[in-house]
Amino acid sequence: MTDHPDAVATVQAPTEHDGILSWVAEVAELTAPDRIVFCDGSRAEWDRLSAVLVDKGTFVPLTAKPDSFWCVSDPEDVARVEDRTFICSENRADAGPTNNWVDPLDMRTVMTEHYRGAMAGRTMYVIAFCMGPLDAEDPKYGVQITDSEYVAVSMRIMTRSGAQVWEKLTAGTDFVKCLHSVGAPLGSGQADVPWPCDTTKYISHFPESREIWSYGSGYGGNALLGKKCFALRIASVLGRDEGWLAEHMLILKLTSPQGNTHYIAAAFPSSCGKTNLAMLEPALEGWTAETVGDDIAWLRFGPDGRLYAVNPEAGFFGVAPGTGAKTNPNAIATIEAGNSIFTNTARTLDGDIWWEGLTDTPPARLVDWHGQEWTPKSGTPAAHPNSRYCTPIEQCPSVAPEWDDPAGVPISAIFFGGRRKTTIPLIAETFDWAHGVFTASVLSSETTAAAAGQVGVVRRDPMAMVPFLGYHVGDYFAHWLSMAEREGARLPKIFQVNWFRRGADGQFLWPGFGDNVRVLKWALERLDGAAEAIETPIGYLPTADALDLTGLDAAARDLVRHALSVDIDEWIAETASIDDWYASIGGDRLPGTLREQLTALKLRLAQT
Ligand code: GTP
Ligand code: MN
Ligand code: MN
Repeated sequence: MTDHPDAVATVQAPTEHDGILSWVAEVAELTAPDRIVFCDGSRAEWDRLSAVLVDKGTFVPLTAKPDSFWCVSDPEDVARVEDRTFICSENRADAGPTNNWVDPLDMRTVMTEHYRGAMAGRTMYVIAFCMGPLDAEDPKYGVQITDSEYVAVSMRIMTRSGAQVWEKLTAGTDFVKCLHSVGAPLGSGQADVPWPCDTTKYISHFPESREIWSYGSGYGGNALLGKKCFALRIASVLGRDEGWLAEHMLILKLTSPQGNTHYIAAAFPSSCGKTNLAMLEPALEGWTAETVGDDIAWLRFGPDGRLYAVNPEAGFFGVAPGTGAKTNPNAIATIEAGNSIFTNTARTLDGDIWWEGLTDTPPARLVDWHGQEWTPKSGTPAAHPNSRYCTPIEQCPSVAPEWDDPAGVPISAIFFGGRRKTTIPLIAETFDWAHGVFTASVLSSETTAAAAGQVGVVRRDPMAMVPFLGYHVGDYFAHWLSMAEREGARLPKIFQVNWFRRGADGQFLWPGFGDNVRVLKWALERLDGAAEAIETPIGYLPTADALDLTGLDAAARDLVRHALSVDIDEWIAETASIDDWYASIGGDRLPGTLREQLTALKLRLAQT
């Protein structure tokens, strides 16, 4: 590899950072792009790249929304590929039982051959970005190299990027190397396809050298490397080493009718309600909810010993289906403002988008996510269940002014939830930090379309982080437990929630969405001991009267009683499944405290 080959010398690099320049040169030599473009993040660049995407047939401009585009992916490239995601730590044991592991040298060897010539006929874009506010005390920079215009325009929405970052990324500044190729080189004269990708895919992470190598996919979580790859997998390792937490959490500001403000964070697995809760329209009179983040939170100790949360992202990459004016009016208003990309939704014939749940009745005719004509009689979903909107956070009417505050917001309570038909009650308050960490460590959910594979299977998803952990899950639990040992720590209370419990008829027991504020209200009242609770083996639950159910009818209230029940037999079965989960982690790495918590839970259940 050469230091500064001609390919780079011929382009105007907006940086003198040697580490970046030599890496760009090295990748250019390997991948052989036709040209190199350093992205400046400008409006003109967005216009230029979206025009290229329209030309290629990737984007269809929407006429019903300003500066917005519809596109469909390759039908095989629609979700994160967990079976092709690798944590390439030097020691296999450090990746833990929940990750795929390949020796870093082997992975580099194999992937280097895939990358060789992979950008032929394409432009290589170099995107400088910053996860979190630019004027943070310790800003976390990344540079993504990609051969995808789709990725370049999406990164402009999802991260702080461009000229403002080049300016700060001065010589010697640390950055995470994020290398991405769709893996579809073009021979001379060969026409491009609308969604280039490869059937072979690798999403690889090198935690020790803090590098990401992604190959073969153009889809969000696989290709927008600032998001899951950096802000969760690599950042979880940074957090472990530097004493903070990188989590799959929304951040929400709640103000009561009395004017008391609290910030909360909540971790739910993919497609389990984070974005919806982050943009909540409270069903209770006088309550205000404001959005700080909808997917990722970085939690660091502040000088007062509290945990402060920062949203590292600048956009929403939200699940489209189920998002409508009734369930999430703030998301609808955000995308109405334009500047958005819609992937794998349906398109109307008059230049707008549509998906299941956007309106009660579908339009008579649509173009579906396969690009085929669709009518309500087609019998297939018009939008892919994991279709997404990509839109800037600052357009959100409910955005909190603090969303860009480098100090973050102090978290009063953390909520862990999943999608469970049975067993898990609507809400339970954990007894203390260790019990809270235990509860989060056994979090479970039915799988969704956000990841490739079977849908609806219950799996353990500790802290909703199982697809996003950059290291051993047992060490991660120890890291969570260690937060309590920090001198002067004033940690948030931990709660468990389940919006998705169902009755015998298969219907949801809880109305969800805007009504979730009723549950949050009880939790916040528990912070100063004002709300009534009963002690159960799994934690403190609201008494039937402690939840504010104003405005819900008698039938709905009946269902709430069921949603709040703790069925001892179901829980005994649950602990057996937790035994299996803990056994899979391995005794040497599972903190003893958690095993003791499990034993104590079994004892409480047996004594009930
Ligand atoms: P990722 O962005 O993949 O991490 O998922 P997410 O956690 O942000 O999920 P999101 O808020 O997009 O919700 C996904 C699905 O859950 C949508 O189809 C919603 O309609 C549905 N959903 C969200 N909140 C609720 C709720 O309170 N009750 C019910 N029944 N469904 C909900
Ligand atoms: Mn997510
Ligand atoms: Mn989301």
